[in-house]
Parts: sequence; structure tokens; C-alpha cells
Amino acid sequence: MPRCSVTRRVHFNAAHRLHNPKQSDEWNRRTYGKCNNPNFHGHNYEMDVTVTGEVSGETGYVMDLDELKRITERVVLSRLDHANLNVDVPWFRDVIPSVENIAVVCWRELRAALPAELALRLRLWETPRNYVEYEGH
Ligand code: NI
Repeated sequence: MPRCSVTRRVHFNAAHRLHNPKQSDEWNRRTYGKCNNPNFHGHNYEMDVTVTGEVSGETGYVMDLDELKRITERVVLSRLDHANLNVDVPWFRDVIPSVENIAVVCWRELRAALPAELALRLRLWETPRNYVEYEGH
């Protein structure tokens, strides 16, 4: 059977602060600049959730994209959308909520919720110009 990749793009707003409590304030200001602002700041995140697998002879689908949307909303968006990532989301209690780490956490949660035979890749946009990709390595 042919293999295809299918993608659902989702959106969430969230606030964060990049700060490593193990380092000095000076180190944090130098490393993170404005992103170290103690009063937090927000981003409009866009995330492309891509699954790859065989096209079913029965449905013609790799995966029903509406189901992928529902799983993504339940597993990720319900926890991150309109949240302060540092304060509201236990995933980031000991993890700096950089776009890299947000992508890794989202990947782990989605991986556990999706059929094992589908490969999963995320592309997470923090700004229209900056994104990271993660596929589980
Ligand atoms: Ni930021």
C-alpha cells in the first residue's frame, strides 16, 4: 500500500517566560533577552501535526483528520490554549517552556494517544518566522 503523510494544523495562544532558575539573573537576561521578562509574554502558536502511514484500502485514509483534530484538542490544546505555561501547566514545572521543549512535550503526549503504526512528526511555529520540528529522536 502507498504511504502518505497527512497534517492537521492547530492553533493555541499561550504565555511563557524563559528562565533557568539554576542560573543567575544576569545569565538569564543575557541568554533570553526579552523572553526573560519576569511578567511573561505571549505567542500565537501554530502546530502542524503530521502522521505518516499506509493508505487504507477500506477508507482511503491514513487517518481520519477529524479524529486527529479531536485527539490533538483533547491531549494538547485543552491543556495549553490560553494558559501560562510556566504557572498553569505541570509539564513545565521543571522544564523551560522553549518552543523546542513545548514541541517535545506535545509529541510525547500525542504519541501515547495515537495508533502505534502511524509515525508522528510535529512542526511548532512560535512566530511566523520561527519553528521547530520534532519526530521523536
Ligand atoms: Ni517567547
